[in-house]
Amino acid sequence: MDQVVRTVPKGMAAFRVSNIHHWTDRTFSFDCERPASFRFRSGEFVMIGLMVDGKPLLRAYSIASPSWDDELEFYSIKVPDGPLTSRLQHLKEGDEILIRPKPVGTLVHDALLPGKRLFLFATGTGIAPFASVIRDPETYDKFDHVILTHTCRDVHELDYGKHLMEEIRGHEFLPEIVGDKLTLISTTTRETSDHMGRMTDWIRDGRLAEAAGGGLDPATDRVMICGSMDMLKDHKAICEELGFVEGSNSEPGQFVIEKAFVD
Ligand code: A2P
Repeated sequence: MDQVVRTVPKGMAAFRVSNIHHWTDRTFSFDCERPASFRFRSGEFVMIGLMVDGKPLLRAYSIASPSWDDELEFYSIKVPDGPLTSRLQHLKEGDEILIRPKPVGTLVHDALLPGKRLFLFATGTGIAPFASVIRDPETYDKFDHVILTHTCRDVHELDYGKHLMEEIRGHEFLPEIVGDKLTLISTTTRETSDHMGRMTDWIRDGRLAEAAGGGLDPATDRVMICGSMDMLKDHKAICEELGFVEGSNSEPGQFVIEKAFVD
């Protein structure tokens, strides 16, 4: 049945969906319209969802598109029995999704102190907020070098991130802004690829330092982390061992974390 929201609950809006792309059995992305009045900072998330049994079913989703874009992009996991994603994965062109247009989040420039290198550590769909941050010109105003790492179980799951890099290279104005400041390091953990292993292991055994031209240093580096609860816990522990201080919107620091959407 078509998803058309007939009665929009208070405080929410219904936005029309387009450009649905199924990347793997476990992931898909889609765009939706963005009214000019809907403003957000690159890296933030919103509550989105569908009407289910006459009630709104919403979950927090990072906006994957940058704040200057005319459309909103989302990148989602598909969980077979997940309350929302089991339904959301069947979206078709022209359907509508519900949005509570109050963007929030900590994976934003405002929550970080100035620095020279920006490390963006993502696993799985945790790359979504960074898809926004790496397409925002402000990122390259603020940092000399941006290193995005994306770790997934399988090679195919890295496609979204690799495609993003191609999109940036072929974009009308981003190449001039991004130049050679952006590096993507993609690794797999369960399927053989050129670069294997969890990024937490790469940091500890020096592989990241080698790939990025120097180890993590709180004096010059800033870090954003997005993934599962376990991934956040382990990355956060490493940051704290190295002397990084966690930041927030009210008190900017040297690293920030946010849980990637899971069901
Ligand atoms: P692994 O295959 O070794 O569990 P998931 O799909 O379960 O969210 O995992 C996405 C990626 O994140 C996988 O490559 C997984 O590696 C990795 N990962 C899971 N837990 C951690 C963690 N605690 N620290 C770093 N990477 C992790």
